[in-house]
Order: sequence, then C-alpha cells, then structure tokens
Amino acid sequence: MTETKNIVWHDSVITKQDRTKQNNHKSPVLWFTGLSGSGKSTITVELEKALFEEGIRSYRLDGDNIRHGLNNNLGFSPEDRKENIRRIGEVAKLLNDAGLITLTAFISPYQEDRDKVRELLADGEFVEVYVKCSLESCEARDPKGLYQKARSGEIKGFTGIDAPYEEPTSPELVIDTENSSVEEAVEEIINYLKGQQYI
Ligand code: PPS
Repeated sequence: MTETKNIVWHDSVITKQDRTKQNNHKSPVLWFTGLSGSGKSTITVELEKALFEEGIRSYRLDGDNIRHGLNNNLGFSPEDRKENIRRIGEVAKLLNDAGLITLTAFISPYQEDRDKVRELLADGEFVEVYVKCSLESCEARDPKGLYQKARSGEIKGFTGIDAPYEEPTSPELVIDTENSSVEEAVEEIINYLKGQQYI
C-alpha cells in the first residue's frame, strides 16, 4: 500500500498557468504507442527537433533510455510494463506541470495502463498517438534484430510475438508509418497541435 501519511503537498508560488503564459504554448503529453520498430522513437526525435526550431519547449522520454536509468530495475513482464508506464506517467505529469510538451515513446501495450496516464492529467492534456505499423512490417524492419531473437526463442515475451499489444481504442491521432514518411508524420502532428491550439 502507498504510504502518504505525514506527507504534505507544498505548492509553488509560480503556477503552471504562469509557465504556459511565459512559454506561449500549452504542455500536452503526446503519448506515442506502438509495436517495437513501428517508428515511435524516430518520429519523436524529429518532432522534438521541429518543435525546438519553432521555439517550443518539449522533452522526449524514450523506452530504451528510461530503462537505462529510472526504470533499470524493470523487465518486460506484464507487471513490470505496468509499473514502467505508471512511473513514466508520473514523470510526464511533472513535465506537464513544468510547462513542457512531453513526447513519450513507449510500446505501452495495455490500454488500461495508457488510460490510467490519461486520468492522471487534466482534460485535453493527454494526446494518444497510435504509431500504426503491421507486425509484418515491423518484423521486416527489425532495426535492432530483436524480432529475430524473439522468433528464435532467445527473447521471451516479446511484444507482438508472444506478448500482447492492444491497439488504442480511441486515439487522438493515428500515424500510419507504412504509408507516410517521418517528415509527413511530423507535419501532421504539428498541424494537429496548432489546430487544437496547443501551440
Ligand atoms: S513497454 O512495453 O512499454 O514497457 O516497453 P518499453 O519501455 O517501451 O521498451 C521497449 C523497448 O525495449 C526493447 N525490448 C523489448 N520490447 C518488447 N518486448 C520485449 N520483451 C523486449 N525486450 C527488449 C525494445 O528495444 C523496445 O524498443 P522499441 O523502441 O519499442 O523498439
């Protein structure tokens, strides 16, 4: 059970609204979800660059990177993936309060876990982006050779092979990486952010 006894929240004088005003943009969490090799990392890297060039403050949280530090005690069991996403959700919430646009790139295979992150944030602050790519194509790309290892049994519980991936039921955005380039994906997301007046 979580122990919160004797712990008292201490508010800042500077609010999220102050930071939003100073930055001149909102701070949604753009939650990219999709199979390994679908293009989450590639898109978020280029998106971060494009936002930076427009003077927009954003920060990228990426599965491989976070698992080197904050979450280096977690593996890929369903429980560990759940805890992985829970912690990232809490970090994203802090960045949201800090006034940054967060770009997360995690497989985040379970709808329930993604929904819990959505619930952590205020309405409209969570944007689920489904990076859609068929298992066949992800496996053909196999940028890290992990699908091959999963097929040979060297890796157990690999998403899409012998572990589930639940497609988002109602994502705000779907980016089909089999039929659009990275540049097109970035443009589509930026247009969405402008259209929804996040930036
Ligand atoms: S999760 O499911 O959201 O907790 O996964 P995530 O933190 O995004 O980490 C996914 C990256 O870890 C590598 N990897 C695996 N992925 C899926 N299943 C298994 N068993 C596994 N083992 C290692 C893989 O490189 C994933 O990176 P991406 O960028 O998604 O390809």
